[in-house]
Amino acid sequence: MSFRLTGTVLSTGACALLLAASGTLFVTQGATAAEDTDRAQRAIATRQGALKLLGYYMAPLGGMARGRTPMDATLVARNAQRIGSLAPMLTDTFKANTSASGLDSEALPVIWEKPAEFQAKIEALIEGAAELGRIASAEGTAEGAIKGGIGKLGQACGSCHDDFRVDHD
Ligand code: HEC
Repeated sequence: MSFRLTGTVLSTGACALLLAASGTLFVTQGATAAEDTDRAQRAIATRQGALKLLGYYMAPLGGMARGRTPMDATLVARNAQRIGSLAPMLTDTFKANTSASGLDSEALPVIWEKPAEFQAKIEALIEGAAELGRIASAEGTAEGAIKGGIGKLGQACGSCHDDFRVDHD
């Protein structure tokens, strides 16, 4: 009898301990969720910063490819080099999977489901930038060839957007 009683007392105590522990866990999880959201927000802002820079260096090239602004092979070579330097930063800045954060972003969850495919798009961007750099810095390259190289680089952007970015169409 007394053993049983002690057992009951003990298990009640254990129960209270468990309750206390789960209460603590709940509070801890609440703090962590706020921290996670903060971290995800910063990760999204950082990668979008890298993408904005890609847009910044690509925009004048798009204007030249469309004949809206005069062709400037030196500027094309320089911007292609900048884009080639920025591209590997996508690998780094997309490491954090923010798909469950519920925060505003155009990044599709498939980025973190198919990391090899996503990385392949980054490699294609690096190659497109290197190729355009070679074309634009070669002596006496025809304007049409530079426009072709810009077009290919633009396709490397678009190809990733098609598969991994929210579609606006
Ligand atoms: C490997 C995939 C990939 C490649 C390559 C890529 N992008 Fe993107 N881009 C994305 C994704 C994903 C987003 C959405 C990111 C988000 O909202 O969190 C995006 C968003 C953007 C944005 C909007 C950024 C903002 O939030 O203001 C711009 C601008 C952009 N990309 C330009 C480019 C240009 C220019 C190129 C080529 C030089 C390029 N991207 C290549 C995946 C890519």
